[in-house]
Amino acid sequence: MTEGSERRERHKTFPRRISLKDGRVATIRLMVKKDKDKLLRFFRGIPEEERLFLRDDVTKPETIETWARDLDYSTILPIVAEIEGRIVADATLHRRTYGWMQHVAEVRIVVDPAIRGKGLAHALLAEILDIARTWGMEILVSELIPEQKPAISLVKSHGFKREAILHRHVKDLSGTPRDLLILTRRLAEEEPRP
Ligand SMILES: CC(C)(COP(=O)(O)OP(=O)(O)OC[C@H]1O[C@@H](n2cnc3c(N)ncnc32)[C@H](O)[C@@H]1OP(=O)(O)O)[C@@H](O)C(=O)NCCC(=O)NCCS
Repeated sequence: MTEGSERRERHKTFPRRISLKDGRVATIRLMVKKDKDKLLRFFRGIPEEERLFLRDDVTKPETIETWARDLDYSTILPIVAEIEGRIVADATLHRRTYGWMQHVAEVRIVVDPAIRGKGLAHALLAEILDIARTWGMEILVSELIPEQKPAISLVKSHGFKREAILHRHVKDLSGTPRDLLILTRRLAEEEPRP
């Protein structure tokens, strides 16, 4: 198998086990339709002050049901991390397969508060970056609210740079207008990896 084909197959190597800083082991794999209830439970465990800044109301069964119903790994690749049968993180890579943004993909990551600070987001973002490369993506985007400081620090530590800020561009779940910070990592402009 060539290096290229090995990389193309990468997400097919799921499920995979990763060790966290505290010695616990998480299994990472693709989300499947039957994860609906586990995912809802996971998102309901995210503190309200953080959910406020997430794009969708993830505590509504309809939101998760729509994700499960419309699962299409060629446009949205959802990766979950599990510990002892519970979902403890969700990371997604979103792209369009047509139009002027087909070379651009967006990343989103949420980790269970009880498992934070143990390197899970680092590991998931590294996976997402690898998959984005195998998809041939040229630009990765992270769209965040300035209050999402840990997430901003996370993506910056993976080479994302602040690109723009759109003032009062989005409304949080309570309806309050918020700035939208756009960070990108331009994969196509990077030196090829050894
Ligand atoms: C951002 C988030 C995913 C990080 O998850 P995590 O598993 O705790 O992250 P890790 O332990 O892998 O740490 C990764 C990096 O995140 C940043 N980070 C994590 N917690 C942080 C904190 N409390 N303050 C500042 N930076 C923090 C750091 O850069 C850290 O790297 P370092 O440990 O080398 O300094 C998690 O805090 C989260 O789910 N936040 C709420 C959801 C959210 O805002 N998601 C982004 C929108 S899609």
